[in-house]
Amino acid sequence: MDHSVVADLLAHPRVTETRQHLHHSVPKHDHLMRVARYSYLLAPWMGADRRIAVRAAVLHDLDSRLGTLTTHGAIAARVAAELGEPQEVSEAIVSHMYPFGPRPTTREGWVLVVADKMASLSDLSSFVGGLLTGRSLRVRKQLCASDPFYASRVARRRRRMLIGRLWRSRGRAGLAAS
Ligand SMILES: [Fe+2]
Ligand SMILES: [Fe+2]
Repeated sequence: MDHSVVADLLAHPRVTETRQHLHHSVPKHDHLMRVARYSYLLAPWMGADRRIAVRAAVLHDLDSRLGTLTTHGAIAARVAAELGEPQEVSEAIVSHMYPFGPRPTTREGWVLVVADKMASLSDLSSFVGGLLTGRSLRVRKQLCASDPFYASRVARRRRRMLIGRLWRSRGRAGLAAS
């Protein structure tokens, strides 16, 4: 893939931070780059604008955790617009979850739908392949700790468990004293 069409995006903190984010049990950055590579290959075949398709691919799942399966396309499309991307990029992103969400209205949108599905399968096969060596679970654990979204969930779960343990031990102590 010719990275020059997305060099500015690849250096952007909103994209580089995805190296620490968990998505499909792999680093989100890996997923974004897989979609970008597939989009780069598919765009000429599908008569789409390669630059628009690849830029949309790099941004298509930013802030995806703030939405659902059907709504996160709209959230990422808004992020792309806030980053100064043209309308065509947001239009492609908004429908990338089709058929779970709106139907694409542009060729670049269709490229993203196909590339995202292909990349999701690659994410899965990469994760399953890494189970044999233990790499996948190691990476997943690291990402759960480094991803603010999951780290806060883990911290909340730990707090709840600690409170539960304390409550149970106090309860037992109370019972023993009576
Ligand atoms: Fe997505
Ligand atoms: Fe995706």
